[in-house]
Amino acid sequence: MSPKSFLLDEQLHAYLIAHTTGIDDIAHQLMEETAALGGISGMQIAPEQGAFLSLLTAGVGARRVVEVGTFTGFSALCIARALPADGRLLCLDVSAEWSAIAQRYWQAAGVTDRIELVLAPAAETLRALPAEPSFDLAFIDADKQGYLTYYEELLPRIRPGGLILVDNTLWSGKVVDESSDDDTVKIIRAFNDHVAADSRVESTILPISDGITMIRKP
Ligand SMILES: C[S@@+](CC[C@H](N)C(=O)[O-])C[C@H]1O[C@@H](n2cnc3c(N)ncnc32)[C@H](O)[C@@H]1O
Repeated sequence: MSPKSFLLDEQLHAYLIAHTTGIDDIAHQLMEETAALGGISGMQIAPEQGAFLSLLTAGVGARRVVEVGTFTGFSALCIARALPADGRLLCLDVSAEWSAIAQRYWQAAGVTDRIELVLAPAAETLRALPAEPSFDLAFIDADKQGYLTYYEELLPRIRPGGLILVDNTLWSGKVVDESSDDDTVKIIRAFNDHVAADSRVESTILPISDGITMIRKP
């Protein structure tokens, strides 16, 4: 299993995985089918991030969750399984091809009833949601140029005390590499600066895999 973290070598990552709640056969098969897609499979979150999402969803007692960027459904599977039976996860993506894979595994895991998938640009879907604080938890993991929009659309829709998680916010460490100035690096830096300066929230960047920003709306 690849470390997927620029912060850990393979040995330390293997140790971390050995001390993380294991992934079951269904999740394992989903990861294998995704890996067979080739380089694009790097979009999938790391297994320790999956465990973290499950722990957090259950730990805060989340009942309504929204995910921006579903791909082949691994992060959604981890969240949905940790919801109560009447919990709901809204998944936003644009790819019918990748989400068809997701739906097969959600079916196998028995969580289809908890998930609503909307295939449309996520900014449009979020803007069309009632501007009420109805979500307990949000996970942003889609196109990076959309991050700021997703964050701003989600914040009013998160209940007080709720959380927003954002993936890839260390961007392989390039956020502090002064020789790195491609567009995505600039976008991630600007997003991180925006959240850090936002007095409406409290936040930190957790060095799990490629970095997850954890934001709480007081
Ligand atoms: C990094 S992947 C998500 C990985 C997923 N969380 C997982 O664990 O497997 C990013 C996803 O964002 C989707 N995406 C890209 N642009 C989007 C947009 N404008 N609106 C909604 N989804 C988008 C892509 O189709 C892709 O599936």
